[in-house]
Amino acid sequence: MTGMDMEAPVLALVGFAREHFSPDAQDRANMALKLDHCLRVFQEAETITIREGLQPDATRRSLWAALFHDVGRFPQYATHKTFDDRKSTDHGSLGVRTLKRRGLLAALDEHDRKAVLAAVILHNKRFLPPDLPDWAAVPARVVRDADKLDIFQVMIEHLRPGARNNPVVTLGLHDEPAVCTDALVEQILAGKLGDYARMRTLNDFRLLLCSWVYDLNFPASRQAVEERGHLNELLDDLPDLQKIRRVRETVLSALERK
Ligand SMILES: [Fe+2]
Repeated sequence: MTGMDMEAPVLALVGFAREHFSPDAQDRANMALKLDHCLRVFQEAETITIREGLQPDATRRSLWAALFHDVGRFPQYATHKTFDDRKSTDHGSLGVRTLKRRGLLAALDEHDRKAVLAAVILHNKRFLPPDLPDWAAVPARVVRDADKLDIFQVMIEHLRPGARNNPVVTLGLHDEPAVCTDALVEQILAGKLGDYARMRTLNDFRLLLCSWVYDLNFPASRQAVEERGHLNELLDDLPDLQKIRRVRETVLSALERK
């Protein structure tokens, strides 16, 4: 434990989320999944701040930002019935508007609030701006890593062969066990983060998740991915092709980089 009292903001998030829960059982299940995700990302962030020995300011900002990073998901789903930003709205920006409108960060001072809002708006962008000052960059990096650590677990459960395909989670991608999109494989072999827009199949989603190792900011995060065996599990479900063997070597060696 960090010793920080986070009970009030946790209850505030849960209360806010529940306001948006729909009477429809499937919609409610999708939103409950997101609320659970927020709470687990908060826990992942706490582990990172402890393992990396972050200072109290950076720790407090990281924990608040992790807890509220996906607050925009609740109004997004209530309005659009999807978590796909391309079909609705940028949930990072919506999260910032929501936090301001609802005064959910009122307990924080101005500097903390700015750092949390920056981390929320930046958590779902492809890259962080290179010139971001540390007070904003450190919480943003913690949230991005913590978010990826949890999405890894959730996606792996949904991508396991035989798992019930929930199109809201797997973005409606098709299950074609023998097919990987070459454009995505090339990106990953070049050491680049996979591009969502290039995904066509569930295998492409597995490849995209593998490419996240290039975008982990802290050794504690790479250590967590390694301990949980996520990359091997994803790679084992991909077709046995020469190009996939090269992907395996490339991403596993990126994970070992400390
Ligand atoms: Fe998000």
